[in-house]
Amino acid sequence: MIIPLALRADQTQEYYFSVKLVEVRRLQAAGHDVINLGIGNPDLMPSANTIDALINSAQQPNAHGYQPYKGTPGLRQGIANFYQHTYGVTLNPETEILPLIGSKEGITHISMTFLNDGDGVLVPELGYPAYRAVSRMVSANVVDYPLLEHAGWQPDWEAMAELVAASPASNPTKIIWLNYPHMPTGAPATSALFERAVKFAHDNHVLLCHDNPYSLILNKKAPISLLSLDGAKDVAIELNSLSKSHNMAGWRIGWMAGSKPYVDAVLTIKSNVDSGQFRPLMDAAAEALTNSDDWHRERNEVYKGRMDALHAFLDALGCTYSLDQEGLFIWAKLPDSVSSAEALVDDLLYNKHVFIAPGFIFGPKGDRYVRVSLCVPEERVLEAVKRI
Ligand SMILES: Cc1ncc(COP(=O)(O)O)c(C=O)c1O
Repeated sequence: MIIPLALRADQTQEYYFSVKLVEVRRLQAAGHDVINLGIGNPDLMPSANTIDALINSAQQPNAHGYQPYKGTPGLRQGIANFYQHTYGVTLNPETEILPLIGSKEGITHISMTFLNDGDGVLVPELGYPAYRAVSRMVSANVVDYPLLEHAGWQPDWEAMAELVAASPASNPTKIIWLNYPHMPTGAPATSALFERAVKFAHDNHVLLCHDNPYSLILNKKAPISLLSLDGAKDVAIELNSLSKSHNMAGWRIGWMAGSKPYVDAVLTIKSNVDSGQFRPLMDAAAEALTNSDDWHRERNEVYKGRMDALHAFLDALGCTYSLDQEGLFIWAKLPDSVSSAEALVDDLLYNKHVFIAPGFIFGPKGDRYVRVSLCVPEERVLEAVKRI
C-alpha cells in the first residue's frame, strides 16, 4: 500500500500532452511514422552565434558552479537591451528582471508569491492550461473569465468587473492572467486591449500577469509588451521566453519583468526552490537575444510557408479558421459533420498517424475546435494532407 498523496496531487490531472504523447510514442515504437502537429515545440535551430556562445562558455573554468539566484548580470542586461529594442520598454537590469527556467515555472512562483488560500484568480477561458492547474495547486479560487469570439477572443471587461466584485473582501481577486498574442486562438495583441487591461487593473486593484511568448511569431504589427503602457508597471508583470521566438524551448530560458517590489517578492520565493541556471545557457541566451531583425524575419518566412500547407490540411478536414492569427499555431473550428474533437483526434492518430491537439484542453469553449502547430516541416504537413 502506498502512502496517501496530498490532496493537491490527487486533484491535479497530469498534463494532457504528457499522457497523449505516450500514445504517440507507442505508435512510433510499433513502427508507425507519426506526424506530430500537436505541440508547439520549435524544430528550427537557434542562431549559430547562440550555439557558439554555449560552447565557448562551457569551456570556461568558472562556468560550472552555482550562479547568482537572479541570473548573470550579462543575461539581465541582454534582456533589458532586447526589451528596449523590441518593445521600446526601458527595464532596469539590476532590479526589474528575473530570469526563469522557462516562463512556465514563473507561473508557479508568481502564484505562490501573491495568492493565499481562497484568493481569486481570473484565468482566460480559453487559455494555456498551466494558469488554472497552478492556481488550483496553491488552493486559490480559480474563476474563468470568458473570451468573446465575436470580439476577436478578447475579454468581456464588464463581465470581468462583476467577477472581481463578487470576490469576498477576505479573499479578493488578486491576479488576472492575460496572454496576447493569445494561445490557442492566435488573437493578436493590440494597444487598445492593453490600455483597457491596465485601466481595469488600476480600477479594480488586481495584478495583471501577462504571458508574452508569441509576440515575435508571425506578428503582423510591431510586437507589444504590456509594460509599454503608461502606468503598467504599478499593476502588471510580464513573462517572456526564448522557447518559441528563439527556437530554444528545451533550453528552459525565460524571465519575468516588472517593477522592483514585484521582482524582489518573486525572487524570495524562487530562491528557496531552485538554485539558478547553468551559466553557458545564460551566456548563450544573452547572445540569442541579439539575433537580428532579419533572423526573426527569416524564421517567420519558414512559418508562413508551413501555415499555407496547414491551411490545406485543415481545408481537407473541412475545418474553418481565421487568417488573422499570430503565434505558433492555427486554431480551427470543426465542421458539423465531426461528432467531437476527441473523435477526430483519435481517428487521425490511429488511422492516419497524424496527431493534432483537441481544443477542449484549453477550456470547455474549445470543445468544437482543434489546434495545429507550425513546428513541422512543410513537406511533412503536405504528407499529412496526402494521408487524409
Ligand atoms: C501561452 C504560453 N505560455 C507559456 C508557455 C511556456 O513557455 P516556456 O517554454 O517558456 O515555459 C507556453 C508553452 O507552450 C505557452 O503556450
